[in-house]
Amino acid sequence: MSEQARASFGGKLSAILVAAGSAIGLGSIWRFPYMAGEHGGAAFLLVYLLCVFVVGIPVMLAEFAVGRHTKQNAVGAYRSLSRPWRWLGYNGVLGALCISGYYYIVAGWSLEYLVSSATGSLYSNDGSFTEQFSAFQASPRQLIYTILFILLTHLIIVRGVVKGIEKASKVMMPALFVILIIMAIRVAFMPNAIEGYRFFLQPDFKEAFSADTIFTAIGQAFFSLSVGMGCMVTYASYFKSDNNLTGTSFSVALLTLLVAVLAGLVIFPAVFSAGLEPAEGASLIFITLPEIFKDMPMANLWSAAFFVLLTLASLTSTISFHEVLTAYFNEEFNLSRKNATRLTSGLSVGLCLLTLLWHFDFNLFGLNLENISFFDIFDYFSANIVMPLGGLLTCIFVAWQMKGSFMRDEITNYGALKGRAYPLLRFTLRYITPMLIIYIFIKNLGLV
Ligand code: PHE
Repeated sequence: MSEQARASFGGKLSAILVAAGSAIGLGSIWRFPYMAGEHGGAAFLLVYLLCVFVVGIPVMLAEFAVGRHTKQNAVGAYRSLSRPWRWLGYNGVLGALCISGYYYIVAGWSLEYLVSSATGSLYSNDGSFTEQFSAFQASPRQLIYTILFILLTHLIIVRGVVKGIEKASKVMMPALFVILIIMAIRVAFMPNAIEGYRFFLQPDFKEAFSADTIFTAIGQAFFSLSVGMGCMVTYASYFKSDNNLTGTSFSVALLTLLVAVLAGLVIFPAVFSAGLEPAEGASLIFITLPEIFKDMPMANLWSAAFFVLLTLASLTSTISFHEVLTAYFNEEFNLSRKNATRLTSGLSVGLCLLTLLWHFDFNLFGLNLENISFFDIFDYFSANIVMPLGGLLTCIFVAWQMKGSFMRDEITNYGALKGRAYPLLRFTLRYITPMLIIYIFIKNLGLV
């Protein structure tokens, strides 16, 4: 596609909103609380915060620079800068496929909870919320909602970058904040809420610096900010040339952090108040949040409103990794945009079917895991391997392989901005971020 024909997002605010739309989603509202619940609560929050600044923002800026400079899909972008580095683009494609293989399923859960809140069945059922969630997972409805979600994403992507992605993000993001704040205030009045605050806000420093916590927190930082897999490269390829990349990346990261912290402030008090376990795992929010709503006046309405927003927040994220694949098929294989979209959606359905229908036992080198599904594999592999590896290579690429002027020019918009943060950014990208990722890989994968 020629440069002239390529669409671009409207103004400064649009760029922030679409990038934040990609970042904010199930990662902050569903994955963050359950990872924090399993990895020490406040200890995890502390390390996650550090990772966002030391790893997330620098890598996001590097990806913005690559994307806006080249104005291409992830593979094309890296290839046009340096042919051997096109593999970094393929790493992104791989990441987008892995995420597609399970993210739509969780997004489908939120759609189902939206419907069952609106119809009232979620609150009129005799079973506990835990039982209801298991019953839903065992029923074919799970598959139907997953496919429905892929279809929704498909419909937005077909409409194209500006009409689809940009418009959707502008409405959904602000509404999400409002409802999260209302919920955070509401849970503060629940009995025993204080236990939740303690769990989420009082760190145990010994736990915080365990290799396992840092490893999981780095993965969560990559996942929640949508970095390390070409997504921000692809989105930045639609940015305007006068966009202040530093400002955009900080705004996106801070908004994402805010949502994650708000989600924690809603969920942990509710968990302790309902006498549930914070280490519940992937079902955490689907079991605890209904506990908050059920005693509120107009439970159905509040619950439906929340799940509408969760669904919409997920949608602005699904369109972003769908777009990574669509832009790749569209530009690299010369498929029309429509066919590229169809191919991506078809692949997503196939991967989700695999995840939903195939469970197996894993038995290798003395490692015995029962009933493993692609759900855990895709989740672990994308957040803990593909994205951090992509992030590490992105740092090496922009800060060691490319000329120094590449990042400087993009950060300062070729001299139009002062770019005071540039020296610090360069130092971080050259030394701190890559060394931290390498160290934690080595430590955690048991290599030393
Ligand atoms: N950041 C998104 C979320 O938190 C997930 C995502 C990852 C989206 C990678 C695009 C790319 O929900």
